[in-house]
Amino acid sequence: MAITFNVEKLADIRTPFYYYDTNILRQTLDAIKTETQKYPNYFVHYAVKANANMKVLKIINEAGLGIDCVSGGEIEQVLAAGFPADKIVFAGVGKSDWEIELGLDKDIFCFNVESIPELEVINEIAAAKGKTATVCFRINPNVGAHTHANITTGLAENKFGIAMEDMEKFILLAKTLKNIQFKGLHFHIGSQILEMDDFAALANRINELQDKLEAAGLPIEIINVGGGLGIDYDNPQENPIPDFASYFATYNKLLKLRPNQTVHFELGRSVVGQCGALITKVNYVKEGSHKKFVIVDAGFTDLIRPALYDAHHKTINLCSDAEEETYDVVGPICESSDVFAKGIQLSKTKRGDLIAMLSAGAYGEIMASGYNCRRLPIGYMSDEL
Ligand code: LLP
Repeated sequence: MAITFNVEKLADIRTPFYYYDTNILRQTLDAIKTETQKYPNYFVHYAVKANANMKVLKIINEAGLGIDCVSGGEIEQVLAAGFPADKIVFAGVGKSDWEIELGLDKDIFCFNVESIPELEVINEIAAAKGKTATVCFRINPNVGAHTHANITTGLAENKFGIAMEDMEKFILLAKTLKNIQFKGLHFHIGSQILEMDDFAALANRINELQDKLEAAGLPIEIINVGGGLGIDYDNPQENPIPDFASYFATYNKLLKLRPNQTVHFELGRSVVGQCGALITKVNYVKEGSHKKFVIVDAGFTDLIRPALYDAHHKTINLCSDAEEETYDVVGPICESSDVFAKGIQLSKTKRGDLIAMLSAGAYGEIMASGYNCRRLPIGYMSDEL
Protein backbone atom coordinates (compact mmCIF):
# COMPACT_ATOMS: atom_id res chain seq x y z
CA MET A 1 0.00 0.00 0.00
CA ALA A 2 1.28 3.45 -0.91
CA ILE A 3 1.58 6.40 1.43
CA THR A 4 -1.81 8.16 1.59
CA PHE A 5 -2.69 11.80 2.16
CA ASN A 6 -5.93 13.26 3.47
CA VAL A 7 -5.59 16.65 1.81
CA GLU A 8 -8.50 18.24 3.67
CA LYS A 9 -6.90 17.46 7.00
CA LEU A 10 -3.39 18.38 5.88
CA ALA A 11 -4.67 21.75 4.65
CA ASP A 12 -5.36 22.83 8.25
CA ILE A 13 -1.73 22.43 9.36
CA ARG A 14 0.89 25.17 9.14
CA THR A 15 3.42 24.31 6.44
CA PRO A 16 6.09 23.10 6.00
CA PHE A 17 5.72 19.99 8.16
CA TYR A 18 6.54 16.29 8.14
CA TYR A 19 3.76 13.79 7.76
CA TYR A 20 4.23 10.16 8.80
CA ASP A 21 1.88 7.44 7.56
CA THR A 22 1.67 5.05 10.51
CA ASN A 23 0.28 2.27 8.29
CA ILE A 24 3.42 2.29 6.17
CA LEU A 25 5.63 2.39 9.27
CA ARG A 26 3.78 -0.53 10.86
CA GLN A 27 3.85 -2.56 7.63
CA THR A 28 7.59 -1.97 7.38
CA LEU A 29 8.09 -3.10 10.97
CA ASP A 30 5.91 -6.17 10.30
CA ALA A 31 8.05 -7.03 7.27
CA ILE A 32 11.21 -6.80 9.40
CA LYS A 33 9.62 -9.03 12.03
CA THR A 34 8.49 -11.62 9.47
CA GLU A 35 12.01 -11.85 8.03
CA THR A 36 13.98 -11.81 11.26
CA GLN A 37 11.75 -14.47 12.84
CA LYS A 38 13.36 -16.86 10.36
CA TYR A 39 16.73 -16.27 11.98
CA PRO A 40 16.39 -16.39 15.78
CA ASN A 41 19.90 -15.10 16.48
CA TYR A 42 19.36 -11.89 14.42
CA PHE A 43 18.63 -8.62 16.27
CA VAL A 44 17.72 -5.34 14.62
CA HIS A 45 18.67 -2.09 16.36
CA TYR A 46 16.90 0.87 14.76
CA ALA A 47 19.48 3.59 13.92
CA VAL A 48 17.81 6.55 15.60
CA LYS A 49 19.96 9.03 13.69
CA ALA A 50 17.53 8.54 10.78
CA ASN A 51 14.54 9.91 12.69
CA ALA A 52 14.21 10.63 16.41
CA ASN A 53 10.62 11.90 16.38
CA MET A 54 9.16 10.73 19.69
CA LYS A 55 5.94 9.41 18.14
CA VAL A 56 7.85 7.47 15.49
CA LEU A 57 10.15 6.06 18.17
CA LYS A 58 7.25 4.84 20.29
CA ILE A 59 5.85 2.79 17.40
CA ILE A 60 9.29 1.31 16.69
CA ASN A 61 9.73 0.45 20.36
CA GLU A 62 6.30 -1.24 20.44
CA ALA A 63 7.51 -3.46 17.58
CA GLY A 64 10.31 -4.69 19.84
CA LEU A 65 13.35 -3.44 17.93
CA GLY A 66 16.56 -2.56 19.72
CA ILE A 67 18.24 0.76 19.11
CA ASP A 68 21.51 2.18 17.76
CA CYS A 69 22.63 5.55 19.15
CA VAL A 70 25.52 7.81 18.19
CA SER A 71 25.27 10.47 20.90
CA GLY A 72 24.28 11.02 24.50
CA GLY A 73 21.33 13.07 23.25
CA GLU A 74 20.08 10.09 21.27
CA ILE A 75 20.45 7.84 24.33
CA GLU A 76 18.35 10.29 26.36
CA GLN A 77 15.74 10.51 23.62
CA VAL A 78 15.33 6.73 23.19
CA LEU A 79 15.15 6.13 26.94
CA ALA A 80 12.40 8.76 27.10
CA ALA A 81 10.62 6.89 24.30
CA GLY A 82 10.70 3.74 26.43
CA PHE A 83 13.45 1.68 24.78
CA PRO A 84 15.15 -0.61 27.28
CA ALA A 85 18.78 0.37 27.94
CA ASP A 86 19.95 -3.20 27.45
CA LYS A 87 18.98 -3.00 23.76
CA ILE A 88 21.12 0.12 23.09
CA VAL A 89 24.28 -0.09 21.03
CA PHE A 90 26.33 3.09 21.19
CA ALA A 91 28.58 3.94 18.25
CA GLY A 92 30.49 7.04 17.22
CA VAL A 93 34.02 8.02 16.40
CA GLY A 94 34.28 10.75 19.05
CA LYS A 95 32.30 9.92 22.17
CA SER A 96 32.57 12.58 24.90
CA ASP A 97 33.19 11.65 28.54
CA TRP A 98 29.65 12.54 29.63
CA GLU A 99 28.24 10.33 26.89
CA ILE A 100 30.37 7.40 28.01
CA GLU A 101 29.29 8.04 31.61
CA LEU A 102 25.65 8.07 30.56
CA GLY A 103 26.04 4.77 28.70
CA LEU A 104 27.70 3.18 31.72
CA ASP A 105 25.18 4.59 34.20
CA LYS A 106 22.32 3.21 32.14
CA ASP A 107 24.04 -0.20 31.60
CA ILE A 108 23.64 -0.15 27.81
CA PHE A 109 24.12 -3.35 25.82
CA CYS A 110 27.36 -2.45 24.05
CA PHE A 111 29.80 0.33 23.13
CA ASN A 112 31.06 0.16 19.55
CA VAL A 113 34.62 1.38 20.02
CA GLU A 114 36.57 2.99 17.20
CA SER A 115 40.08 3.57 18.61
CA ILE A 116 42.49 2.61 21.38
CA PRO A 117 42.43 6.05 23.05
CA GLU A 118 38.64 5.72 23.22
CA LEU A 119 38.92 2.20 24.68
CA GLU A 120 41.31 3.47 27.36
CA VAL A 121 38.99 6.32 28.31
CA ILE A 122 36.00 3.97 28.56
CA ASN A 123 38.10 1.65 30.77
CA GLU A 124 39.10 4.56 33.05
CA ILE A 125 35.58 5.92 33.39
CA ALA A 126 34.18 2.42 33.98
CA ALA A 127 36.85 1.77 36.65
CA ALA A 128 35.92 4.99 38.45
CA LYS A 129 32.32 3.82 38.53
CA GLY A 130 33.16 0.23 39.49
CA LYS A 131 31.52 -0.98 36.26
CA THR A 132 32.48 -3.13 33.31
CA ALA A 133 31.80 -1.87 29.79
CA THR A 134 30.80 -4.37 27.13
CA VAL A 135 32.53 -3.41 23.89
CA CYS A 136 32.72 -4.37 20.25
CA PHE A 137 35.45 -3.02 18.00
CA ARG A 138 34.35 -1.21 14.89
CA ILE A 139 36.55 -2.60 12.16
CA ASN A 140 37.01 -0.80 8.88
CA PRO A 141 36.57 -3.71 6.45
CA ASN A 142 37.80 -1.79 3.40
CA VAL A 143 34.70 -2.82 1.50
CA GLY A 144 33.29 -0.26 -0.93
CA ALA A 145 29.58 0.31 -1.44
CA HIS A 146 27.78 1.45 -4.58
CA THR A 147 26.36 4.64 -3.13
CA HIS A 148 27.06 8.39 -2.85
CA ALA A 149 30.66 9.19 -1.82
CA ASN A 150 29.46 11.24 1.19
CA ILE A 151 27.68 8.23 2.68
CA THR A 152 30.35 5.57 2.07
CA THR A 153 32.05 4.67 5.32
CA GLY A 154 33.81 1.32 5.03
CA LEU A 155 36.86 2.26 2.95
CA ALA A 156 40.37 2.48 4.41
CA GLU A 157 40.40 6.22 3.55
CA ASN A 158 37.35 6.97 5.76
CA LYS A 159 37.75 8.20 9.34
CA PHE A 160 35.71 5.33 10.77
CA GLY A 161 36.83 2.26 12.67
CA ILE A 162 39.99 0.33 13.39
CA ALA A 163 42.19 -1.00 10.57
CA MET A 164 41.92 -4.75 9.97
CA GLU A 165 45.64 -5.27 10.46
CA ASP A 166 45.41 -3.82 13.98
CA MET A 167 42.46 -5.96 15.02
CA GLU A 168 44.23 -8.81 16.81
CA LYS A 169 46.70 -6.58 18.61
CA PHE A 170 43.88 -4.36 19.86
CA ILE A 171 41.75 -7.28 21.03
CA LEU A 172 44.69 -8.62 23.03
CA LEU A 173 45.10 -5.19 24.58
CA ALA A 174 41.36 -5.00 25.39
CA LYS A 175 41.63 -8.29 27.21
CA THR A 176 44.21 -6.79 29.58
CA LEU A 177 41.89 -3.94 30.61
CA LYS A 178 40.04 -4.79 33.82
CA ASN A 179 36.88 -2.80 33.23
CA ILE A 180 36.38 -3.82 29.61
CA GLN A 181 34.63 -6.91 28.42
CA PHE A 182 35.43 -7.44 24.75
CA LYS A 183 32.54 -9.19 22.95
CA GLY A 184 32.81 -8.83 19.21
CA LEU A 185 33.13 -6.88 15.99
CA HIS A 186 31.12 -4.05 14.45
CA PHE A 187 31.06 -2.92 10.81
CA HIS A 188 29.20 -0.44 8.63
CA ILE A 189 30.00 0.06 4.95
CA GLY A 190 27.65 2.89 4.01
CA SER A 191 24.06 3.90 3.45
CA GLN A 192 21.41 3.68 0.70
CA ILE A 193 22.89 0.42 -0.59
CA LEU A 194 20.64 -1.48 -3.01
CA GLU A 195 23.11 -4.04 -4.33
CA MET A 196 23.06 -7.18 -2.22
CA ASP A 197 26.57 -7.91 -3.53
CA ASP A 198 27.89 -5.13 -1.31
CA PHE A 199 26.49 -6.82 1.79
CA ALA A 200 27.77 -10.15 0.45
CA ALA A 201 31.27 -8.65 0.21
CA LEU A 202 31.02 -7.56 3.84
CA ALA A 203 29.82 -11.01 4.95
CA ASN A 204 32.76 -12.64 3.16
CA ARG A 205 35.21 -10.22 4.73
CA ILE A 206 33.76 -10.95 8.19
CA ASN A 207 34.24 -14.69 7.56
CA GLU A 208 37.92 -14.11 6.78
CA LEU A 209 38.39 -12.03 9.91
CA GLN A 210 36.60 -14.59 12.08
CA ASP A 211 38.78 -17.41 10.76
CA LYS A 212 41.85 -15.37 11.63
CA LEU A 213 40.62 -14.64 15.14
CA GLU A 214 39.66 -18.24 15.72
CA ALA A 215 43.10 -19.39 14.67
CA ALA A 216 44.55 -16.92 17.18
CA GLY A 217 42.31 -18.29 19.96
CA LEU A 218 40.18 -15.13 20.08
CA PRO A 219 36.54 -16.17 19.65
CA ILE A 220 33.78 -13.57 19.44
CA GLU A 221 30.12 -13.58 20.47
CA ILE A 222 28.68 -10.54 18.73
CA ILE A 223 28.82 -9.67 15.03
CA ASN A 224 27.28 -6.29 14.23
CA VAL A 225 27.05 -5.68 10.49
CA GLY A 226 25.74 -2.10 10.76
CA GLY A 227 22.99 -0.75 8.54
CA GLY A 228 22.79 0.57 5.01
CA LEU A 229 19.87 -1.12 3.27
CA GLY A 230 18.50 1.36 0.74
CA ILE A 231 14.98 2.35 -0.29
CA ASP A 232 13.34 3.01 -3.65
CA TYR A 233 13.44 6.79 -4.02
CA ASP A 234 12.27 6.56 -7.66
CA ASN A 235 9.08 4.56 -7.10
CA PRO A 236 8.14 5.00 -3.46
CA GLN A 237 4.42 4.58 -4.07
CA GLU A 238 4.80 1.32 -5.99
CA ASN A 239 7.54 -0.02 -3.77
CA PRO A 240 7.14 1.27 -0.20
CA ILE A 241 8.60 -1.70 1.67
CA PRO A 242 12.36 -2.30 1.29
CA ASP A 243 13.67 -5.70 0.29
CA PHE A 244 14.28 -7.06 3.78
CA ALA A 245 13.89 -10.65 2.56
CA SER A 246 16.93 -10.47 0.24
CA TYR A 247 18.89 -8.44 2.75
CA PHE A 248 18.64 -10.87 5.66
CA ALA A 249 18.84 -13.90 3.33
CA THR A 250 22.16 -12.59 1.96
CA TYR A 251 23.69 -12.58 5.43
CA ASN A 252 22.06 -15.89 6.31
CA LYS A 253 23.49 -17.52 3.21
CA LEU A 254 27.01 -16.16 3.50
CA LEU A 255 27.87 -15.25 7.06
CA LYS A 256 29.36 -18.28 8.81
CA LEU A 257 28.31 -18.26 12.42
CA ARG A 258 29.81 -20.15 15.34
CA PRO A 259 27.48 -21.59 18.01
CA ASN A 260 25.90 -18.97 20.30
CA GLN A 261 26.85 -16.03 18.13
CA THR A 262 24.33 -13.25 17.62
CA VAL A 263 24.15 -11.01 14.57
CA HIS A 264 23.13 -7.39 15.04
CA PHE A 265 21.85 -4.96 12.42
CA GLU A 266 21.60 -1.17 12.61
CA LEU A 267 18.92 -0.23 10.11
CA GLY A 268 17.83 3.38 9.85
CA ARG A 269 16.66 4.56 6.44
CA SER A 270 14.95 1.28 5.51
CA VAL A 271 12.81 1.41 8.68
CA VAL A 272 11.47 4.97 8.43
CA GLY A 273 12.33 6.35 4.98
CA GLN A 274 9.13 5.56 3.10
CA CYS A 275 6.60 6.39 5.81
CA GLY A 276 7.44 10.10 5.83
CA ALA A 277 6.85 13.02 3.49
CA LEU A 278 7.65 16.70 3.71
CA ILE A 279 4.51 18.73 3.03
CA THR A 280 5.03 22.25 1.76
CA LYS A 281 2.85 24.97 0.28
CA VAL A 282 3.40 26.78 -3.00
CA ASN A 283 4.05 30.44 -2.30
CA TYR A 284 4.52 31.52 -5.91
CA VAL A 285 4.75 30.14 -9.42
CA LYS A 286 7.24 32.27 -11.28
CA GLU A 287 7.69 32.21 -15.02
CA GLY A 288 11.38 32.79 -15.77
CA SER A 289 12.64 33.44 -19.29
CA HIS A 290 13.41 29.74 -19.87
CA LYS A 291 11.78 27.95 -16.95
CA LYS A 292 8.89 27.87 -14.58
CA PHE A 293 9.76 27.91 -10.90
CA VAL A 294 7.55 26.55 -8.17
CA ILE A 295 8.65 28.47 -5.08
CA VAL A 296 7.59 26.54 -1.98
CA ASP A 297 7.68 27.50 1.69
CA ALA A 298 10.08 24.65 2.59
CA GLY A 299 13.80 25.17 2.18
CA PHE A 300 16.93 23.15 2.69
CA THR A 301 16.55 23.93 6.37
CA ASP A 302 13.62 21.49 6.32
CA LEU A 303 15.05 18.84 3.99
CA ILE A 304 18.75 19.13 3.27
CA ARG A 305 19.30 15.91 1.33
CA PRO A 306 18.94 17.43 -2.19
CA ALA A 307 21.39 20.27 -1.38
CA LEU A 308 23.86 18.03 0.46
CA TYR A 309 23.85 14.81 -1.57
CA ASP A 310 22.10 15.71 -4.84
CA ALA A 311 19.33 13.49 -3.55
CA HIS A 312 16.06 13.24 -5.43
CA HIS A 313 12.76 13.02 -3.56
CA LYS A 314 9.76 12.18 -5.68
CA THR A 315 7.60 15.30 -5.61
CA ILE A 316 3.85 15.41 -6.20
CA ASN A 317 1.15 18.06 -6.19
CA LEU A 318 -1.58 16.97 -3.78
CA CYS A 319 -4.06 19.61 -4.98
CA SER A 320 -4.01 19.28 -8.75
CA ASP A 321 -4.55 16.52 -11.26
CA ALA A 322 -4.38 18.86 -14.24
CA GLU A 323 -2.03 18.11 -17.10
CA GLU A 324 1.65 17.99 -16.17
CA GLU A 325 4.10 20.79 -16.84
CA THR A 326 7.84 21.08 -16.33
CA TYR A 327 9.07 22.98 -13.26
CA ASP A 328 12.05 23.62 -11.04
CA VAL A 329 10.98 23.31 -7.40
CA VAL A 330 12.92 25.72 -5.19
CA GLY A 331 12.86 27.02 -1.63
CA PRO A 332 12.90 30.55 -0.19
CA ILE A 333 16.42 30.52 1.28
CA CYS A 334 18.98 32.99 -0.06
CA GLU A 335 21.39 30.34 -1.34
CA SER A 336 21.53 28.92 -4.83
CA SER A 337 21.71 25.37 -3.46
CA ASP A 338 18.18 25.76 -2.09
CA VAL A 339 16.74 23.72 -4.94
CA PHE A 340 14.69 20.56 -4.44
CA ALA A 341 14.29 19.43 -8.04
CA LYS A 342 15.07 20.65 -11.54
CA GLY A 343 13.00 20.06 -14.65
CA ILE A 344 10.46 17.74 -13.06
CA GLN A 345 6.92 17.05 -14.19
CA LEU A 346 4.18 18.25 -11.85
CA SER A 347 0.46 18.62 -12.41
CA LYS A 348 -0.16 22.28 -13.31
CA THR A 349 0.64 24.09 -10.09
CA LYS A 350 -0.68 27.30 -8.57
CA ARG A 351 -0.18 29.38 -5.44
CA GLY A 352 -1.56 27.63 -2.35
CA ASP A 353 -1.21 24.05 -3.66
CA LEU A 354 0.24 21.49 -1.25
CA ILE A 355 3.30 19.66 -2.50
CA ALA A 356 4.55 16.39 -0.99
CA MET A 357 8.19 15.35 -1.15
CA LEU A 358 8.13 11.60 -0.63
CA SER A 359 10.58 9.17 0.98
CA ALA A 360 11.55 11.83 3.49
CA GLY A 361 11.03 9.86 6.70
CA ALA A 362 14.75 9.19 7.08
CA TYR A 363 17.33 11.96 7.48
CA GLY A 364 14.63 14.59 6.91
CA GLU A 365 13.11 16.09 10.05
CA ILE A 366 16.15 15.14 12.12
CA MET A 367 18.55 17.07 9.86
CA ALA A 368 16.47 20.25 9.89
CA SER A 369 18.21 23.45 11.00
CA GLY A 370 17.24 26.93 12.13
CA TYR A 371 19.31 28.77 9.51
CA ASN A 372 17.71 32.10 8.54
CA CYS A 373 15.88 31.89 11.89
CA ARG A 374 13.40 29.56 10.26
CA ARG A 375 11.15 27.47 12.47
CA LEU A 376 11.92 23.79 12.74
CA PRO A 377 9.30 21.65 10.96
CA ILE A 378 6.92 19.67 13.17
CA GLY A 379 6.14 15.99 12.52
CA TYR A 380 2.53 14.74 12.51
CA MET A 381 1.33 11.14 12.49
CA SER A 382 -1.45 10.13 10.11
CA ASP A 383 -3.49 8.61 12.92
CA GLU A 384 -3.50 11.79 15.02
CA LEU A 385 -5.04 13.98 12.29
N1 LLP B 1 25.22 2.29 11.66
C1 LLP B 1 26.19 3.21 11.48
C2 LLP B 1 27.48 3.02 12.16
C3 LLP B 1 25.95 4.33 10.66
O1 LLP B 1 26.92 5.22 10.49
C4 LLP B 1 24.70 4.49 10.01
C5 LLP B 1 24.42 5.64 9.17
C6 LLP B 1 23.72 3.51 10.23
C7 LLP B 1 24.02 2.41 11.05
C8 LLP B 1 22.36 3.58 9.60
O2 LLP B 1 22.46 3.49 8.23
P1 LLP B 1 21.13 3.33 7.31
O3 LLP B 1 20.52 1.98 7.61
O4 LLP B 1 20.23 4.44 7.64
O5 LLP B 1 21.66 3.41 5.93
N2 LLP B 1 22.29 11.61 6.14
C9 LLP B 1 22.58 10.65 5.08
C10 LLP B 1 22.81 9.26 5.61
C11 LLP B 1 23.93 9.18 6.63
C12 LLP B 1 24.11 7.81 7.21
C13 LLP B 1 25.05 7.84 8.35
N3 LLP B 1 25.25 6.58 9.02
C14 LLP B 1 21.43 10.70 4.08
O6 LLP B 1 20.52 11.50 4.23
O7 LLP B 1 21.45 9.96 3.08
